[in-house]
Amino acid sequence: MVVPYKHEPFLDFTVEENKQQMLDAIAKVEADLGKEYPLIIGGERIFTEDKIVSVNPSNKEEVIGYVSKANKELAEKAMKVADERFQNYWRISDPKFRADILFRAAAIVRRRKHEFNAHLVKEAGKPWKEADGETAEAIDFLEFYGRQMLKLKDGMPVNSRPIEHNRFDYIPLGVGLVISPWNFSFAIMAGTAVAAMVTGNTVLLKPASVTPVVAYKFMEVLEEAGMPAGIINYIPGPGSEVGDYLVNHPRTRFISFTGSREVGLNIFENAAKIQPGQIWLKRTILEMGGKDTIVVDKEADLELAAQSIVQSAFGFSGQKCSACSRAVIHEDVYDQVKDRIVELTKELTVGDPTENLYMGPVIDQGSYDKIMKYIEIGKEEGNLLVGGTGDDSKGWFINPTVIADLDPKARIMQEEIFGPVVGLTKAKDFTEAIEIANNTEFGLTGAVITNNREHLEQARRDFHVGNLYFNRGCTAAIVGYQPFGGFNMSGTDSKAGGPDYLIQHMQGKTTSEML
Ligand code: NAD
Ligand code: ALA
Repeated sequence: MVVPYKHEPFLDFTVEENKQQMLDAIAKVEADLGKEYPLIIGGERIFTEDKIVSVNPSNKEEVIGYVSKANKELAEKAMKVADERFQNYWRISDPKFRADILFRAAAIVRRRKHEFNAHLVKEAGKPWKEADGETAEAIDFLEFYGRQMLKLKDGMPVNSRPIEHNRFDYIPLGVGLVISPWNFSFAIMAGTAVAAMVTGNTVLLKPASVTPVVAYKFMEVLEEAGMPAGIINYIPGPGSEVGDYLVNHPRTRFISFTGSREVGLNIFENAAKIQPGQIWLKRTILEMGGKDTIVVDKEADLELAAQSIVQSAFGFSGQKCSACSRAVIHEDVYDQVKDRIVELTKELTVGDPTENLYMGPVIDQGSYDKIMKYIEIGKEEGNLLVGGTGDDSKGWFINPTVIADLDPKARIMQEEIFGPVVGLTKAKDFTEAIEIANNTEFGLTGAVITNNREHLEQARRDFHVGNLYFNRGCTAAIVGYQPFGGFNMSGTDSKAGGPDYLIQHMQGKTTSEML
């Protein structure tokens, strides 16, 4: 028996001991910089000539690691290993054995929590609090999915007549391709990989190319926790080569992708094409972008509204699929909330996250250029109230930016920017505010700040997002508490950290025996 699931508590860095441990861990990670990392296929370490260079986004001269790069041949080798291990071993392995690996891995990560936090500070540019939230989420996925598998291992009850014995069991699918993003390079990578693995599938793990080292470190954890060779194979490489090759591969049984709308749709389309020799319909679990809105009513705690908008917009520099990138504010309180947002935004500190500031860098030059371009568009479309400046001389830093008085259909209000930019617009009443909140093609997260009960119920019914929050910000879902995933172009609403997540990695099999 395992104890009931509870989420991992967060560290308080105002406690001197926690702060010192974090500083020590940062120093330890710094001493390890610039190492070479191999691929792991069937347990074999493979070093390639061609390398992915992972750099610190706060200091582009600082190399986090040189990571071997898979190509089509190595992807094929990994597929053969994963396919063989699935057929001959993993699909019939004991679910309890698989769940235990997750529980042991959770304990190892918990023991090495400061080290993982420090690593996220250096490789992903996360401020301490954000890094700690992510490591806690990775632990939660391990603990939660382990327990979920134990619940599902005997299938679901079905009726039997006196002359028969019926069973309904869940069996695994086959080889799963797991493609993960850089913005939750630990938690989402780990969660999606172990969900596929604990359900009896073998995995080809292609982490994001800008943050591959943390994924390698997690592979070491899984090995230490007793994961047999060839069950998860670590194959970082270019999405356009390794990703495309494996998405199109006839032996790929399912794809679990988290990332942008553009890449997600490309995978959706390619996965639907039947390849020569393919005997199944590939399943896709696709979690994509957002354009998440906080609605502020006139009967509301306006301080809470401004705080929620600023924290949800600028935590991790707005680089969360759940980040608040637009606020729709009732016209009666628009100026008041706007002014307070500006005041709060001006108080935020930006810089190297090793110094534990509120905001760190954005992830790379491509993101920096894209966000700065959007800021220029925003200046044309609305009024720039604060921020709007950046500095990419050493790392990729952009100041938190607020653009007000936007048309609800402006590009700033419609397109995912994925940076520290929030757009404000006003609505004449609550119904119009919800209409505006629904006017994008996305449907991931949203929040409503109001003291009006009827309006909360109206939002519950009409605000069309996968994760809707009342009187709080729109980020920071907790595994097992707020299952996470979006509607429309935000994805397949697969609800990571939810009670039906694992089932999507399996298929139901009915057996009926005459007595
Ligand atoms: P991305 O789409 O650029 O990359 C995601 C992954 O796909 C990476 O591993 C990348 O190498 C790979 N990839 C790229 N081209 C590919 C191809 N042709 N075939 C197969 N794989 C390919 O996204 P990103 O920049 O890493 O992450 C940010 C995006 O992720 C944002 O849009 C954000 O909203 C979204 N996101 C969504 C969720 C969610 O749960 N809905 C969570 C986190 C991030
Ligand atoms: N699960 C993350 C959040 O809710 C993306 O912010």
